[in-house]
Amino acid sequence: MSKSAGFLSRRPAAPLRGVLTVPGDKSISHRALMFGALAVGETRITGLLEGEDVLRTAAAMRALGAEVAQDAPGAWRVRGRGVGGLVEPEDVLDMGNSGTAARLLAGILASHDLFAVMTGDASLRRRPMRRVTDPLAACGAVFSTRAGGRLPLAIRGAVDALPLDYVVPVPSAQVKSAVLLCGLNATGQTRVEEPEATRDHSENMLRHFGATVSVEPAGRGRVITLDGQPELRAADVVVPGDPSSAAFPIVAALLVPGSDLLIQNLGLNPLRTGLFDTLREMGADLTVENARTEGGEPVGDLRVRHTVLKPVDVPWERAPSMIDEYPVLAVAAAFAGGTTRMRGLKELRVKESDRLSATAALLAANGAKVEIEGDDLIVHGTGRPATGGGLVTTHMDHRLAMSALVMGLATAEPVHIDDASFIDTSFPGFVPLVNGLVGNGGSPALIAA
Ligand code: S3P
Repeated sequence: MSKSAGFLSRRPAAPLRGVLTVPGDKSISHRALMFGALAVGETRITGLLEGEDVLRTAAAMRALGAEVAQDAPGAWRVRGRGVGGLVEPEDVLDMGNSGTAARLLAGILASHDLFAVMTGDASLRRRPMRRVTDPLAACGAVFSTRAGGRLPLAIRGAVDALPLDYVVPVPSAQVKSAVLLCGLNATGQTRVEEPEATRDHSENMLRHFGATVSVEPAGRGRVITLDGQPELRAADVVVPGDPSSAAFPIVAALLVPGSDLLIQNLGLNPLRTGLFDTLREMGADLTVENARTEGGEPVGDLRVRHTVLKPVDVPWERAPSMIDEYPVLAVAAAFAGGTTRMRGLKELRVKESDRLSATAALLAANGAKVEIEGDDLIVHGTGRPATGGGLVTTHMDHRLAMSALVMGLATAEPVHIDDASFIDTSFPGFVPLVNGLVGNGGSPALIAA
């Protein structure tokens, strides 16, 4: 961790106000590049997230033979090689900090007759990959990994991949998507059953590119079937703003008195908006304007105004629709008047960091009372601003870094973080954006320190 990447946040001199957009959706951006590379013809993407994670996917698809070029900020072109047409990469594929890039790519490579090696940064090299290599091996691919199923990982893809029929044991859109992507180049029908419905961007985009996908409800989850070896045709993709990124300015506006923001062009897929439902239950003044559908995804403008928040009990069933938002929700809960319980957060332990314990440590370092009970996170808000003044260790995790900086906008004393550099993985421009919302008269609230 470099000392120079330290940052602090402090109470702004003025409320956060203005009209803004947030960077493109990370999940949709990865998929647009991958599906574009597997389609015949030229896919044009607008609004692509140009964060480190997605740039890793762009580089990997290029190394696998697709033409990937940037025309202007956010505007990219991909000339694909058709399903099954990727070529063996000459060198190791480095997926950086991105679990989505590594796991989805493992699915694609499993049904290509080629050899590839994948690695990542120290955070990604700690994350479990067996959740994808175990099901993918059944198509005929052979994987070798470090102990514990960790990266680096070598793949010998199947020559004639068999279709998979898999029940995903944990709610994970990455695992579901890896199996579906493998199924693209398998003969016959691939079937995936998920116990809880998770984000369905892969299913939506596969259809958009011409694949035959059926989705049937099954209890709380879904059964998805995909016909193998379709001819995917290039299709233009308009990427909406990422609701997981919007979460940070939204909670900031809720916590800083007098704030009023309008976030335009935001993705509002119902499998992604659990945080907004939860914040509304806490009394938050959140309204959607101009709701519409773009490229098969619900989109709208979201208005948020400062509100004094109430505590809430977040049911475990909601976790898949807000899995990346718990750290910043925990920050909001620290300012609510009473005890908030967030249930069923086991999956947080295997994110870019162990986000369950790191979120608790973030709050505790800044004077909030917090407990972990099994897989539940409990935050005892006092209704008064937490003291702040802590130094937060961010563990190479962009969402911890932004959550801590949001907290410092409302604590009595500034909040310090050890490393802001990973924010660029999902939210390039976060610091100037937040500082800009404070207005011309205000001195910056987020500063390098
Ligand atoms: C993602 C799925 C989620 C999420 C991640 C993006 C995706 O991971 O946390 O940020 O794009 O499919 P899991 O599938 O591990 O829950």
